[in-house]
Amino acid sequence: GGLFGAGGRFKGGTDPIMEKFNESLSFDKRMWAQDIKGSVAYAKAIGKVGIISQEEANQLVEGLEKVRQEWANGTFEIKAGDEDIHTANERRLTEIVGPVGGKLHTGRSRNDQVATDTRLWTVDAERDILKDMATLLEAGATVAKENIDILMAGYTHLQPAQPIRFSHWLMSHMAPLMRDAQRLKEMIPRANQCPLGSGALAGNAFGVDREFLANELGFDGVTSNSLDSVCDRDFVVEFLMWHALMLTHISQFAEDVIINNLLKGIYIDDAYATGSSLMPQKKNPDALELLRGKAGIALGRAVGMTATLKGLPRAYNKDLQEDKVPLFDSVDTVKDCLAICTGVICTMKPKPEYLMKALSPEMLATDLADYLVRKGVPFRETHHISGACVRLAEDTEVGIDTLTLEQLQAIDKRFEADVKDVWDYEVSVERKCSIGGTGKASVLKQIDDIIAFAKTL
Ligand code: ARG
Repeated sequence: GGLFGAGGRFKGGTDPIMEKFNESLSFDKRMWAQDIKGSVAYAKAIGKVGIISQEEANQLVEGLEKVRQEWANGTFEIKAGDEDIHTANERRLTEIVGPVGGKLHTGRSRNDQVATDTRLWTVDAERDILKDMATLLEAGATVAKENIDILMAGYTHLQPAQPIRFSHWLMSHMAPLMRDAQRLKEMIPRANQCPLGSGALAGNAFGVDREFLANELGFDGVTSNSLDSVCDRDFVVEFLMWHALMLTHISQFAEDVIINNLLKGIYIDDAYATGSSLMPQKKNPDALELLRGKAGIALGRAVGMTATLKGLPRAYNKDLQEDKVPLFDSVDTVKDCLAICTGVICTMKPKPEYLMKALSPEMLATDLADYLVRKGVPFRETHHISGACVRLAEDTEVGIDTLTLEQLQAIDKRFEADVKDVWDYEVSVERKCSIGGTGKASVLKQIDDIIAFAKTL
C-alpha cells in the first residue's frame, strides 16, 4: 500500500517483507520537524509562483501546522502504508485539509525533499554539537587552570620522558578538540545549502524560486546542480568522518586518564566508574573505556556510508536511504560522549603525590645535557655525556641525582658545583617557556586562548 507504492502504475500488493524492508519511517520520523518546515516553505513557494492559489497555499500551511502540533504533542498516528516521514506527513495533511493536500507535492519529489530534510537536520545537529564542544573545552581549560601547579611525568613510547605540568597534559587533549570544533564550524556552511526545487533529478518545472526557498529555510544558499543535489551526501560523510576523528581524540584522552588512574595519579569520580560483581575491591573506569571504544564503530559508520555511495549511478537511488541510521547513531553517540567526557573532566581529581611518584631523576637527563650546552658544549656531545651519567647511575643502582660531583667530573670535567641545581622538576618545567611549552605562563596562555575560542562557538 502507501501513498506512492500503490500508485496508478501498480497492480497487486507489496510483499509484506518488502514493506518492512523498504520503509524508513521507523527511523526518519526523527526528521518530522524538518519535513514540515520544508513543506511549509514549499507550499509558500508554489503559491508565490502561482501554480496554486494563495488561498490554497494558506490552507496547506495551516494544515501543516496542525500536523506539526500532532508530532509535537505525541498524537500523530502512524498508519499502515506510511512508508517514510514524507508520505506520512502528506497523508495526514490530506486527511486534515482534503484534496488540496494533493497539490503540495507539485513539482517536488521525495528526492529533493529528503535531501532537504536531512540537510536541515544535520545542520541543527552540527550547531547543537558545537555548543557541547564549547562546554567541554571550557571545562577542560577550567580544570587545567585550577591545577596549574601540579607536575607529572610526560611520556613518549609510554616510557618516562620529561616532567610536564598536569595542566599542559590536559590542554594537550583540548587542542585537538579545538581543531575539531573549528572543523565542525567550517563544515556547517557547506551542509547548509538548499537542494529543494531540484525535483526528482532534472529540476523544477514550475519555475519555483529556489532562492526564496533557501531563505525561508535558513539555508546559506542553493545547491548548483539538480542531479547532484538529490544524491549528494557529502555532508553526511563529512559529518560521520568528523565524528570518527573527534571521537578518536576523545579515545586518546580516555586512554591517558585510564593509565594515570592505574598509577593513582588521577582519581575518577564514582559517578563514572562501576564495581565488579565478583571482586569487591574493584573500581573500573567504565566511562573512560566506553569513551575509548566509541571511536571504532564511529569510524565504521563513516567508512560504511562512503562505501554505500561508491559506484552509485546518477541520480537518486534507494541506497541513499541508508544514510540516516548511521547519521542519527553517530550524533547520539557523540552527544553522549561529549556529556560524559565533560562530566569526567569536571569531577576527576589529579593526585599530586602520585603524579609526582611517576617522576624519576632520570627524566632530567636532558636537563643535565642542557646544563653543559649552556656552558658551550655542543648538544650532540652533551647528549653522549649525559647518557654516560645515566649509565653510571644504572650500573651502580643509584638515582642519577645522587651521583657525586667527583663521579660526574670523572665523566666530564666541565661539570661544576652548580650542577646540583639541575635536579629540580619545577626548574626543568619552567625552562620550557616558549610558545606551547609546559612553563606556567605558556600553559596559562594556552588556557586563555581556548577559553576565548570556546566563547566564539
Ligand atoms: N525514504 C527515502 C530516503 O530516505 C526517500 C524517498 C525517495 N524514494 C524514492 N523512491 N524516490 O531516501
